[in-house]
Amino acid sequence: MLVRQMKVGPMENFVYIVKDEASHDALIVDSGWETGPILRAMEEAKARPKYVVATHEHFDHVSTIDELADKVGADVVAYKGSPVRCDIEAADMYELKLGGSAAKVIHTPGHTYDSLCLYDGRNVFTGDTLFVGTIGKFERSNAAEIYQSLRSIMGLPGDTVMYPGHDYGDVPSRTLAEERRSNPYLGFSDLDSFLSAFS
Ligand SMILES: [Fe+2]
Repeated sequence: MLVRQMKVGPMENFVYIVKDEASHDALIVDSGWETGPILRAMEEAKARPKYVVATHEHFDHVSTIDELADKVGADVVAYKGSPVRCDIEAADMYELKLGGSAAKVIHTPGHTYDSLCLYDGRNVFTGDTLFVGTIGKFERSNAAEIYQSLRSIMGLPGDTVMYPGHDYGDVPSRTLAEERRSNPYLGFSDLDSFLSAFS
C-alpha cells in the first residue's frame, strides 16, 4: 500500500491517503477540517477513493467528512454506534477491501468509545489513541479501556509503521518497536500501575 501523510486544517490533523498500488483503490483516514488539500492529493496520487474512515467522533477529525465523501464519491466508515453519520458501520475486524489488499478495523475504545485503528498488514493508523511519544488521554477518556486498546495495538508486529492523528512527537511516524522503546505510556506491565500513572 502507498501511504501519503498530510497535515490538514486549523488543528493540523494528520490525514492519510492509503492506496492499493495495483488497482489504485484508496481510502482516506479522517477528513480533518479542510477538503481542498485532500482532493488535490487524491488527484496527484491518481487514487480512486472508496472509503473515508473516521478514526473517532472528535470534530477536528471529521468536521468535513460528509463533504469530502460526497466530493470523491466514497462511503463514510465509522465504528458501529459512533455519532459520526456513516454509510458503513464497521465492527471490530471489519475489512475494507482495496483491490487485492485490505485494511482491517481494530476497535480501540478509550480516547472515545468509537475510536478505531486501521491496520493494512504493514501500517497502522492510530487516530488519537496512540501518538509518537504519548497517548490520547484527556479528561473524558476511559483509562482502563485505553490500556487494553494499547495492548491490542502493541500486539501487532514490531516493524509495523504507526501513523498517528496528530504530529505530537519528534518525528511524524515510526515503527511500533521504536514506539515501545520510547513511549513512557507503553512501559506499564499491568493495569494498576498504568492507572496510578494516569491520576
Ligand atoms: Fe480526539
